[in-house]
Amino acid sequence: MSNRTFTMIKPDAVKNGHSGAIIDRFIKEGFRIVALKLTKLSAEKAGEFYAVHKERPFYGELVEFMSSGPIYAAILEKDNAVAGFRELIGATNPAQAAEGTIRKLYATSLGENAVHGSDSDENAKIEGDFFFSGLEQF
Ligand code: RTP
Ligand code: MG
Repeated sequence: MSNRTFTMIKPDAVKNGHSGAIIDRFIKEGFRIVALKLTKLSAEKAGEFYAVHKERPFYGELVEFMSSGPIYAAILEKDNAVAGFRELIGATNPAQAAEGTIRKLYATSLGENAVHGSDSDENAKIEGDFFFSGLEQF
């Protein structure tokens, strides 16, 4: 599974009309779409997804934001997918993201930062399976 990662286009980027450009960028950078859907997280589901951050001061704000509107969820495939994708999206804080990265181009702030990218192969699998059944993963 080390060639797959999981991503979400977050509510800010969907609302601001960047979904098409961001998905196009995934494809242009050589990621194959394994699964893709437009969906919306309930506060409960967003809390579950980000449970690892439960004790962090920004957890409440993060859950509220991630359940505030529709998102695109996707599984992407490419060699070295997890690390390569995190390079493509850039630093968590868009102010520190490198030129040309997705967060530099489309993120609004540290909290509203346009895209999620898995941080390990293990979490990529867990997160992909959180959104997609086996029948939905190609
Ligand atoms: P992500 O999980 O969304 O791909 O982001 P990441 O790995 O770059 O950052 P992470 O540390 O996992 O944080 C998850 C998300 O929480 C929000 N955040 N807010 N206000 C703050 O101090 C703060 N710090 C993090 C961001 O939306 C971040 O992407
Ligand atoms: Mg993270």
